[in-house]
Amino acid sequence: MTKLNGRRAVVTGGASGIGLACAEALAAAGAAVTIADVNGEAAASAAATLGGDAWKVDLSDTAALADLVLDADILVNNAGLQHVQPIDEFEPDRFSLMLRVMLEAPFLLIRAALPGMYERGFGRIINVSSVHGIRASPYKAAYVAAKHGLEGLSKVTALEGGAHGVTSNCISPGYVRTPLVEQQIAAQALVHGIDEDEVVPKVMLTESAIKRLVEPREVASLVLWLAGDDARMVTGASYTMDGGWSAR
Ligand SMILES: NC(=O)c1ccc[n+]([C@@H]2O[C@H](COP(=O)([O-])OP(=O)(O)OC[C@H]3O[C@@H](n4cnc5c(N)ncnc54)[C@H](O)[C@@H]3O)[C@@H](O)[C@H]2O)c1
Repeated sequence: MTKLNGRRAVVTGGASGIGLACAEALAAAGAAVTIADVNGEAAASAAATLGGDAWKVDLSDTAALADLVLDADILVNNAGLQHVQPIDEFEPDRFSLMLRVMLEAPFLLIRAALPGMYERGFGRIINVSSVHGIRASPYKAAYVAAKHGLEGLSKVTALEGGAHGVTSNCISPGYVRTPLVEQQIAAQALVHGIDEDEVVPKVMLTESAIKRLVEPREVASLVLWLAGDDARMVTGASYTMDGGWSAR
């Protein structure tokens, strides 16, 4: 079992879904966890539950992150958002916002954390990408572009950090059962005129060999492993957890 006593972890988007499951798993392994989220109330309440700290931060405000110094041994870049629209209708401002939150902010947080990690000779950068970091779907231009960019950023971080005891990896899940996706299920059922039970196999999992959603705790277990000692030689990798979607 991974032990992280004495390690400090920052989890962005840690107030909900995958990020919350990661924060819980890291805290249970003994890490001191900071939940960084734009939803300050949810971050504070989650932090209180797991005995960590909350950091209310809007990661789309990248100018405010330019001079940041981040004291952390483990950084989980997880905050994200989705928007589905054809490119010719996609608002440039929304594209820019999504790229800021899911690519520029991870760059700025990594940049802010690396000097301390290099000094201590230890660091774990874990980037929550997506199957859309390695595969495209129509109508998700900003999301797919940001996640593909995150995969590249993670590999560069791995190459630069290797000599300093810093690893960097991506996790690339398919659809995960989070509040956001559960809301989508209800909406999809309505739009398609089918039962909610049918949305997962018939709409969301057409590409997957395993016809179910990923659970947040399954993603968190991989985060935990990547943060621990057994993953010392794992860097520059991208771990899919997509039920076989990307095997096609
Ligand atoms: N749910 C899925 O199916 C799925 C699949 C693959 C990858 N992912 C990725 O996992 C990550 C987490 O997604 P989730 O499904 O848990 O979503 P979620 O909506 O449950 O949680 C996202 C969190 O990010 C926070 N956030 C959003 N914008 C922010 C900002 N500007 N600044 C700070 N925090 C902000 C939200 O407040 C929220 O707490 C995302 O990067 C997403 O792309 C999700």
